[in-house]
Amino acid sequence: MVTQIMSDAEQGTTDTVSDVLHVTGLTVEYVTDGDPVRACADVTFTLRRGEILGVAGESGSGKSTLITALTRLQRPPAVTTAGSIVFHPRDGGPAIDLVTASPRALRALRWTSLSIVLQSAMDALNPVMRLGAQFADALRTHDRTLSKDAAWARAAELLATVGISGDRARSYPHELSGGMRQRASIALALACGPELVVMDEPTTAVDVVMQRQILAQVLRLRRTLGFAVVFVTHDLSLLLELADRIAIMYAGRIVELGTARELYDDPRHPYTRGLRDSFPPLHAPLTRLTGIPGTPPDLRRPPSGCPFHPRCAARFEGCDTHLPELITKGGHAVACRLHEPTERPDPAPDSASGPASDTRPDRTEGGAS
Ligand SMILES: Nc1ncnc2c1ncn2[C@@H]1O[C@H](COP(=O)(O)OP(=O)(O)O)[C@@H](O)[C@H]1O
Ligand code: SF4
Ligand SMILES: [Mg+2]
Repeated sequence: MVTQIMSDAEQGTTDTVSDVLHVTGLTVEYVTDGDPVRACADVTFTLRRGEILGVAGESGSGKSTLITALTRLQRPPAVTTAGSIVFHPRDGGPAIDLVTASPRALRALRWTSLSIVLQSAMDALNPVMRLGAQFADALRTHDRTLSKDAAWARAAELLATVGISGDRARSYPHELSGGMRQRASIALALACGPELVVMDEPTTAVDVVMQRQILAQVLRLRRTLGFAVVFVTHDLSLLLELADRIAIMYAGRIVELGTARELYDDPRHPYTRGLRDSFPPLHAPLTRLTGIPGTPPDLRRPPSGCPFHPRCAARFEGCDTHLPELITKGGHAVACRLHEPTERPDPAPDSASGPASDTRPDRTEGGAS
């Protein structure tokens, strides 16, 4: 198991005034006939109130598994086998561990405290109900004093906040474009004023122009409504614009976590560097994209040691046997032996461009330690 070595700042994870969520040692496995597949392994992070935390990683890195575990929407064969997800209500009410919470307690939290936006709006929207009726249902479930007319009026207001004309409340989902449907599902997630919204690839199915509109709206709504967001995507360049902090996942583990600027200017994990260099920058001039050689591991047979070692140009002796610890310094965490406070070889600046030999010259100065 990975030991999390936290700085003083990270250890202050009991700050329930400024933090909305404390996730500790979260482990999720798919339990099938063969060996269990560990798709989330010892995931630990804190989400601050009103913060946008991005989660990036290639397909199969465990992002959706994490999101469904966070919201307790996972279905068998997924099982949370260890860890806690402690939610701290903004009203100062008692903290609740979402891993062990009763279905009733979870129902009380859904929509009002915690909501989800999925990649396909059709997963959230009922195709045979008018939008307004769906909003009214959600609103009236949590406020039984709200009249039907008032709920429909509120639905029109909510649609307007995401740039959809209020009279569209009378439309069925199939009468809207894909982008409008996705924006409607975001408005629905925000209907009851949640403190935390988790979004799983919410802009993957829409075109780039719509993607930018949706991101701008999420940022604006976050500013006015103050909810926190966990935003999952395979596209790191998008998070560099949107997120306050970013967690990079690889083979079910967080391998780096820092501010968006830190990950852009000073990515410490070779995988993060590879991801950063795999996407065209949204605003900077185009440069040659390098990509990451190889493919993500099959989690049914994860590599020994550092899970990235088969693809890592910077690997050195012991990387194939030693699982690196996630070590935090000044809020920037990385799980790579190049940054452990022991002897290590020179971090290679372009270390994601292809596997290297297993042994590199030693040196003693450290990056993150
Ligand atoms: N229903 C399932 N049964 C068994 N294994 C699964 C199932 N769903 C996902 N997995 C495993 O979990 C890994 C992570 O999946 P997922 O969380 O969907 O990744 P991501 O969202 O990053 O693409 C997959 O690579 C696969 O090994
Ligand atoms: S240098 Fe070693 S520990 Fe760091 S990412 Fe590469 S293989 Fe993993
Ligand atoms: Mg996914």
